[in-house]
Amino acid sequence: MCDYSLQSIRSRAAKVGDKLVTKGFGTGTRGFASVTDPTTAVCVLPGTELACCGPSTRRDFLATMSVLGLQMAAVSAAIPAAAEPASERPKEGDFLVAVESTSAKSALEPQDIPPDAAPMFAWPMDPAGNLVRDGSRLNKVLVLRLDPVTLVGDTRNRAADGILAYSAICPHAGCDVAVWRADAKLLECPCHASHFNPRQAGALIDGPAPRDLPALPLKIADGKLVVAKPFTSRPGFIQG
Ligand code: FES
Repeated sequence: MCDYSLQSIRSRAAKVGDKLVTKGFGTGTRGFASVTDPTTAVCVLPGTELACCGPSTRRDFLATMSVLGLQMAAVSAAIPAAAEPASERPKEGDFLVAVESTSAKSALEPQDIPPDAAPMFAWPMDPAGNLVRDGSRLNKVLVLRLDPVTLVGDTRNRAADGILAYSAICPHAGCDVAVWRADAKLLECPCHASHFNPRQAGALIDGPAPRDLPALPLKIADGKLVVAKPFTSRPGFIQG
């Protein structure tokens, strides 16, 4: 499903080489379809690179385009980040900064993360030079605080005073895991409703995601939240 307005329509993710056209599916929302199969909605997911192959007006740009870079985006999720420092994966000693802020003064501290509240999105930041590692979307993490006594197994060791960080990128198709189910204390991906348990190592509870959310172990140093170890597994997603 591309989004909830198209939930009654057959859909699939975009593939490299697709030629797309905009189409009304009779649901009140226009979407993309392949020129070879106009009955199936094609979901253009984050990281997809598109090329316009028609005339240059915006309307025409939206009317016909080709998928160039999905495979590269997916492959890039599987290999180490490039040497570009802002794209390198978080390292031990990195601070965290809220996604809305890139100021060194706003390196997150434990009191910035309220207990049992919806997660905050953050980037790692190299304290040497205050370099925010926002050059790769795969570095985005969600940060939340839970009662330490409710944390299970390795999760306790990865938490700093109950504060946990996980990759914000859903392993299914790369949407941001942006919904907090406060009643069940579960993380939810809004695209296809995969659920993850942050108290138990980001374990997949249900939904189409193929694996758990990677964790980013934290510690507290000099009053700041600091990355203690690299991601426990590769962040990102792979599509066939
Ligand atoms: S992208 Fe499909 S469940 Fe998250």
